[in-house]
Amino acid sequence: MTTPAAELVGVTQRFGSFTAVDAVDLRIPRGRLTTLLGPSGCGKTTTLRMLAGYATPTSGRILIDGQDATRTPPEKRDLGMVFQSYALFPHLTVADNVAYGLTMRKVPAPERRRRAAEALELVGLGHLGDRRPKQLSGGQQQRVALARAVAVRPRLLLLDEPLSNLDARLRVQMRAEIRRIQSETGLTVVLVTHDQDEALEMSDEMVLMRAGKVVQSGAPRDVFPAPADRFVAEFLGYENFLTLADGREAAVRPEHLRVVTADAPLDGRVDDVVLDAVVRDVAYRGVDVLVTLDATDPAGTAVRLVADHRAEDETPAPSPGARVRLVAPRARLALLTPAAPAAAPATAPEGNR
Ligand SMILES: Nc1ncnc2c1ncn2[C@@H]1O[C@H](COP(=O)(O)OP(=O)(O)OP(=O)(O)O)[C@@H](O)[C@H]1O
Ligand SMILES: [Mg+2]
Repeated sequence: MTTPAAELVGVTQRFGSFTAVDAVDLRIPRGRLTTLLGPSGCGKTTTLRMLAGYATPTSGRILIDGQDATRTPPEKRDLGMVFQSYALFPHLTVADNVAYGLTMRKVPAPERRRRAAEALELVGLGHLGDRRPKQLSGGQQQRVALARAVAVRPRLLLLDEPLSNLDARLRVQMRAEIRRIQSETGLTVVLVTHDQDEALEMSDEMVLMRAGKVVQSGAPRDVFPAPADRFVAEFLGYENFLTLADGREAAVRPEHLRVVTADAPLDGRVDDVVLDAVVRDVAYRGVDVLVTLDATDPAGTAVRLVADHRAEDETPAPSPGARVRLVAPRARLALLTPAAPAAAPATAPEGNR
């Protein structure tokens, strides 16, 4: 196996008696884009700062290219970093901002200019090198900050919520742009975000954090259909939780719950979960209708569920008060808890991906 670009081994960061990062083990694969995803305060920035060398772990080790770098200062780690506030130097031109890291590294002027121009080209701002930062839009400034970090061709590019100050459309555009830059340059990138869509769309590898710990990691295609626990499921947009007849907890997404009439023939597979339900509320949203329902789950517990009824479905959206049936295809159920120790030996749950 190749050495990861960076590695955290049992890394803990305490602030007084508070543990912000708690015994985290993490491998950052080379030439890939890894996202750190999690709610506010879960320790993402603290983790990134330790990777960058701006903070020293209370305990544990940080390896870069297999070498211990736990106490190596940031300027000796060969990294590029874009902070959440992407401060550019207002008195320097865009091109000089981008060349800044190269100046610091004493790269000769001609090469500096060439590489700065190249990096600006990469973010689509080749024509704006002579401007000052205040003559650029927020999104353009963001891209200059990115170019500045990329220009030094770092071993590791660390981005802390680099898209958070952009409007929704620009943010989506920049996701693709960062992805493109990453794959064109083969850089190793660690990107912090609290936006699950961003993480799903951009990651080769996503790392979910909660309260200073890594709760799940893997490729989006593996993590998304099989969240490890209820926290991850909720964070990834699974809104419905129910307990199956065998006691296991399952999560299902609103778009995978089908609302059918109470007397509809059940043409699905025998192992689909079918629940009788009463419609509480119907919210029209254009392309779909959100239907809130009261049902009893297979374990006999009353549950409130939400189904996303597509407008193009033949079955019309039901009205409040209607008695309906809910069908959750077995293949769409994400099983959260391991089978309770029962008489029969536990087998691998089927259809959870
Ligand atoms: N210098 C510090 N002193 C004390 N507590 C700190 C310090 N830095 C961070 N913390 C605490 O550590 C926890 C993790 O902070 P961190 O900045 O890593 O969170 P985050 O996941 O980046 O959150 P956000 O999404 O809001 O940026 C928070 O509870 C924060 O208050
Ligand atoms: Mg943060």
